[in-house]
Amino acid sequence: MISGSPDYRDHGLEFPETFLFGSATASYQIEGAYDEDGRGPSIWDTFSREPGRIVNGDTGDVADDHYHRLDEDLDLMQRLGLESYRFSIAWPRIMPTGSGSVNEKGVAFYSRLVDGLLARGIRPIATLYHWDLPQPLEDAGGWPQRDTASRFADYAEAIGARLGDRVHTWTTLNEPWCSAYLGYGSGAHAPGVTSGRAALAAVHHLNLAHGLGVQALRSVVSNDAQYSATLNFHVLRPGDDTADDAMRRIDALANRAFTGPMLRGEYPADLLEDTSKVTDWQFVRPGDLEQIHQPIDFLGVNYYSTATVRTWDGRRPRQTADGHKDAGGSPWPGSEMVEFVQQAGPYTAMGWNIAPDGLEELLVSLHEQFPELPLMVTENGAAFDDQVTDGAVHDVERTDYLQRHFTAAHRALQRGVDLRGYQVWSLLDNFEWAYGYTKRFGIVHVDYRTLERTIKDSGHWYAELIRTRAIPRGPKSQR
Ligand code: FCB
Repeated sequence: MISGSPDYRDHGLEFPETFLFGSATASYQIEGAYDEDGRGPSIWDTFSREPGRIVNGDTGDVADDHYHRLDEDLDLMQRLGLESYRFSIAWPRIMPTGSGSVNEKGVAFYSRLVDGLLARGIRPIATLYHWDLPQPLEDAGGWPQRDTASRFADYAEAIGARLGDRVHTWTTLNEPWCSAYLGYGSGAHAPGVTSGRAALAAVHHLNLAHGLGVQALRSVVSNDAQYSATLNFHVLRPGDDTADDAMRRIDALANRAFTGPMLRGEYPADLLEDTSKVTDWQFVRPGDLEQIHQPIDFLGVNYYSTATVRTWDGRRPRQTADGHKDAGGSPWPGSEMVEFVQQAGPYTAMGWNIAPDGLEELLVSLHEQFPELPLMVTENGAAFDDQVTDGAVHDVERTDYLQRHFTAAHRALQRGVDLRGYQVWSLLDNFEWAYGYTKRFGIVHVDYRTLERTIKDSGHWYAELIRTRAIPRGPKSQR
């Protein structure tokens, strides 16, 4: 396809020398070894054992057994030519009860990981919180409790003091939207609470944890590391010609509830107004916004698809096609009248619509809102039902998805966005939260019986992109 074509299937486009090509995972989704070397239980260990929470009753007990296959996985990363690896640290390995003394055996695992990355020339991007809250902290109230943010700062300081001579980039939180609204609002994620007020209190304490965490890290880190947070943005489309209010509401709850305090030092007035029947926001104490509003080096952007919304008219059956498992509660406190309308395909195996234009639009819009702030795509990728045939996985759809989204990212770069890199989700097939092992996002296939790894065609395609720094022709390219 010629450059600028609307289907985004471009190739040959080159990325700058400094652009960081990598791949991402998260602790609970890949590590397994759930009770080894002093690891304490997390909310996902508890939640996944509750009947009906996870498809097939799957748990992360073994997952990809990455904890025991670290060297093999590091070699895989090297074979792919990754320049960076975005992983998360399991808080309950470092502080098994969420506070108090440090479990040095847990630290040793991540220390080996970081050293193994550096030995292979791969930059470590460490996320401190990708959803595995130590269970004792949940027992004490979890994210709706203010104290959890202070415990997070202690944990950040402990791990920063131990790995802060080697980690290239620190990310405080991954997708606090999911932690707050799926964890405490809809109940689809651990700990499975369904309370709008709890969800909004969690939003604030996660924001506070970010700010305190950045400060704690900076106080102990000895190299010139970068600091960031990763958000999942809702890119909104109008479901009808009166959708403006629905779009504004969801933008406030999903996006500006985090960018407001983190990047501007304030909660948006319309968010407070829209949610005033749910909470009075008294959990925001004087001085909190200054603590949250810390300088960061870039903003991490996770993007998979768009969302189409409109206001429910109360007559037709209400649609809730928001891409997440229905667990009874609402992830939209105060805006339950907003409908999430089924969107046009094509879709991935998650049922998420494929819309690379949404990525370009999101990056450009963030750049316009925060012109001084560099961006990095910290997750993008797709689940499809893969088959292994004769030792290969011909995942045409995933390769095509990646080609189109890398093209979108390149277009954003050409439009002046300061985009620093791209971490493909995911390095390995893994435990996809409420969907267990039924959804495969990896560019490397994992056989859950033998735990054998097989690089998929998309992985080989990505390796070529990294090697040549130009988007390779894809399986659906027209010429
Ligand atoms: C994101 C999560 C990640 C993974 C992808 C598919 O919301 O951060 O762990 O589950 O979705």
